[in-house]
Amino acid sequence: RKLTIIGMPMDLGQMRRGVDMGPSAIRYAGIFDRLSKLFSSIEDWGDIAVGRPETIIDKQSNLKNLHLIAEKNQMLAEMVDKIIQSKSFPLVLGGDHSIAIGTLAGVAKHYKNLGVIWYDAHGDLNTAETSPSGNIHGMPLAASLGYGHELLTNLLGISPKIKPDHVVIIGARSLDDGERRLIKELGIKVFTMHEIDRLGMTRVMEETIRYLKDKTDGVHLSLDLDGLDPNDAPGVGTPVPGGISYRESHLAMEMLAESELITSAEFVEVNPILDERNKTAALAVALMGSLFGEKLL
Ligand code: ARG
Ligand code: MN
Ligand code: MN
Ligand code: MN
Repeated sequence: RKLTIIGMPMDLGQMRRGVDMGPSAIRYAGIFDRLSKLFSSIEDWGDIAVGRPETIIDKQSNLKNLHLIAEKNQMLAEMVDKIIQSKSFPLVLGGDHSIAIGTLAGVAKHYKNLGVIWYDAHGDLNTAETSPSGNIHGMPLAASLGYGHELLTNLLGISPKIKPDHVVIIGARSLDDGERRLIKELGIKVFTMHEIDRLGMTRVMEETIRYLKDKTDGVHLSLDLDGLDPNDAPGVGTPVPGGISYRESHLAMEMLAESELITSAEFVEVNPILDERNKTAALAVALMGSLFGEKLL
């Protein structure tokens, strides 16, 4: 089993600087040592050059940094495509969550019935019309389902990249009105914090795995660190109290490892400027350990 890491130092999808240092922070937290025991080989393809110009608001759509985000995600999509072609597991380090647009485009090229687990406090299901912020990191799941600006939905000429009944959102506790509407309209499976509290993470993950197993030919894990509680993951730009715990998250990753369902992954929204001594990047690396099959004994 081979792993290929690619960094996407993107901070243009939201308005707080520093999340572009996420890939460095995650590497510094010891990703190689942690994962080298779990793979026969690990390659690091380095970071995609994103650049950090001042915000440009697109006149027609009101979207922030639309053209640059689309352009850079195109590059990421091509890299992810190449990684899968080389028979390696793609692990993308963010960067804000707008990079999922590129990751999912690259992955979707290889799976007709791609499943997605969206581990996040947010739905990221906004479009230009419903977004309260114009921030594209609040839109990647909508874009991948085919909703939103054409430059975001049509990467690699594949749209939609995923079907609504192949998506599971876990950890949601901050949804905008338009996002709630889209969830209901499309019948997307969501385990909010309410369900996690009520059913427990074991059952949430059992149901998630059972829901996706037979109808998908690959499953992408898109893990936004703000899915976790801000006490455990303080280094994120849009923290929401009352999140998934450290232990529950390890359990979730361990159950995914056992299921052997996951075929690609990304860890996003780590912002070392807002962090406490790189705690959130260290958490990301620890969760990767569990996701890739690390055992306590
Ligand atoms: N729903 C809000 C928005 O659209 C927040 C999105 C946060 N997304 C994230 N990937 N952290 O602006
Ligand atoms: Mn989020
Ligand atoms: Mn289906
Ligand atoms: Mn997100």
